[in-house]
Amino acid sequence: MVKVGILASGRGSNFEAILRAVNAKKLNLEIVLVASNKENAPVLEKAKQANIPIYAGQDYALALHNHGVEFVILAGFMKILSASFIAAYKSKKGDYSKIVNVHPSLLPAFTGLNGYEQAFNYGSKVAGVTIHLVDEKLDHGPVCAQKSFSIEGCKTPSDVEKIGLAIEHELYPETLSWVINENFVIEGRRCVRTS
Ligand code: GAR
Repeated sequence: MVKVGILASGRGSNFEAILRAVNAKKLNLEIVLVASNKENAPVLEKAKQANIPIYAGQDYALALHNHGVEFVILAGFMKILSASFIAAYKSKKGDYSKIVNVHPSLLPAFTGLNGYEQAFNYGSKVAGVTIHLVDEKLDHGPVCAQKSFSIEGCKTPSDVEKIGLAIEHELYPETLSWVINENFVIEGRRCVRTS
């Protein structure tokens, strides 16, 4: 079973969705560490409750290494990863990193913080979710999965977030089930499932 480390900075609803999928045996991986750059991130308490080892602080790269992490899952991690961190998780099978991220927009639109709010404020009629492998650029790397949704009926940014999060919680575990085992090839800029 692939040993994964989850990096998260906040609430941890994606961590919870991944854990639910693991417990329901829909996702075959072992969460060996939940690490956060923020000492008081609610995700840490949630991991503790689930008896998963946690780490809080800036040495998260070392903590992941010490726990034998093979694949890194970003779940609301609000910090840019260094080039050396990304290089440490370079795959042996192809030219990509074994680091995957969920972003609350249809990339390349609305990079950075608060993707759903950016889409709402822009006046977009659709918003979306992107799951991608991570490279050295911000919110960039081969796209594994994307889903769009209409936001024409949304009155506030939190209306958009509510729909988006529900999609993330389905799409992320589902996509991880093949990404984690590297059951894909990189075709151009896309990460294409092979089995
Ligand atoms: C999610 O909406 C995720 O897509 C976003 O942060 C939120 C974390 O929620 N990630 C980013 O913006 C990454 N650039 P959670 O802590 O409840 O999983």
